[in-house]
Amino acid sequence: MATSRVIERRILKQYFVFSLLFCVLALLSPAESSKSSVTLLKEVNLEGPYIGLIPVYPPEEDAFFATGAFRPHKKHPYVDLSGRRFRVGKIDRKKVIYVRCGVGMVNAAAATQQLLDLFDVVGVVHFGIAGSMNNSMSIGDVTIPRQFAQTGLWDWLKPNATIPTGDVAELDFGTYNEPSGGYNQLGLISYSPDQFFSKTGKPNTPQRKLWFQTSKNWLELAFTHLNGMELERCVNSSLCLPQRPKLVVGLNGSTANIFVDNAAYREFLYTTFHVSSVDMESVAVVMTSLSNGFPVIVIRGLSDLAGAQEGQNSIDLFGPLAASNAARVVVQFVNTL
Ligand SMILES: *[C@@H]1O[C@H](CO)[C@@H](O)[C@H](O)[C@H]1NC(C)=O
Ligand SMILES: *[C@@H]1O[C@H](CO)[C@@H](O)[C@H](O)[C@H]1NC(C)=O
Ligand SMILES: *[C@@H]1O[C@H](CO)[C@@H](O)[C@H](O)[C@H]1NC(C)=O
Ligand SMILES: *[C@@H]1O[C@H](CO)[C@@H](O)[C@H](O)[C@H]1NC(C)=O
Repeated sequence: MATSRVIERRILKQYFVFSLLFCVLALLSPAESSKSSVTLLKEVNLEGPYIGLIPVYPPEEDAFFATGAFRPHKKHPYVDLSGRRFRVGKIDRKKVIYVRCGVGMVNAAAATQQLLDLFDVVGVVHFGIAGSMNNSMSIGDVTIPRQFAQTGLWDWLKPNATIPTGDVAELDFGTYNEPSGGYNQLGLISYSPDQFFSKTGKPNTPQRKLWFQTSKNWLELAFTHLNGMELERCVNSSLCLPQRPKLVVGLNGSTANIFVDNAAYREFLYTTFHVSSVDMESVAVVMTSLSNGFPVIVIRGLSDLAGAQEGQNSIDLFGPLAASNAARVVVQFVNTL
């Protein structure tokens, strides 16, 4: 009897400890924090609409904050969702929501979809740095492309395979052998168009598409108001570019989950797709925005020559300058909206 009462008391005590623990855990649980996110989202959206800003990685973020143009909202400066921080604030009198998406197309698409689904936004301004593919474009220049090709959807085939119908280009590794000739076991890769789902298209019926256009109105706005804009030439007092960088509107860009630092592949992309820049996110942001029916523009500063340079890639040296020039253009563009 006595033993069972002791056991009972012990169980009760354990129960008490467990319930206490449960309460503490409940306070910290995702259910609770997402509930407060919902309330926060409501508050934030009541003050909308906003312009969505999406950079990729910390150096681009640093450059953006360094412009001094962004002022965080006093009451609710940010909302954290799925591990990303959506910052709420203003550039001059324009309301903006800002989120750093992270490297690669999955991160870019996920962050864009979340921004469009959860916040009251009118469109997306995507920005950052990129590699230059075009010999008439220099490090430090800023490109606002007209369209992007998805150059990362491949069929990797045997050396003498036939290219699947619908594919748009092929890269035959054998033709890059040095000395030339012989057999290359890597065979060839053939480039497929992407599958584009759109709210204006037939449901569940994606369109096969290689090129994704940024918004014509916004591109024209950029062309009219930003053309000839002064850009920064120097990293610091001792490191400057040989000429003043320029802003070019209307070129082609390419995106894949590949960091390109290879002269032969750079040349292949340029001659095959006529693309002037290469990056790892833009097409995903553009495609996701278009699927959902939102305007989108991409502003990228050129940080390196994607492999055409002698020696080391210049991204470490000129990345901050390229990011800073892109960020200045972003601020200027937002002000013209
Ligand atoms: C390369 O860049 C220049 C601008 O600097 C542009 O005029 C030209 O059309 C670009 N070439 C291609 C193939 O896009
Ligand atoms: C494909 O290439 C290999 C190596 O050159 C050759 O042995 C084979 O006969 C080729 N097959 C076809 C179907 O052409
Ligand atoms: C300028 O930047 C370069 C590259 O980051 C650095 O090596 C150099 O020391 C800097 N010079 C000055 C004066 O800050
Ligand atoms: C962009 O790509 C398209 C399709 O390959 C091509 O027709 C066009 O000339 C390119 N634009 C530039 C500026 O090179």
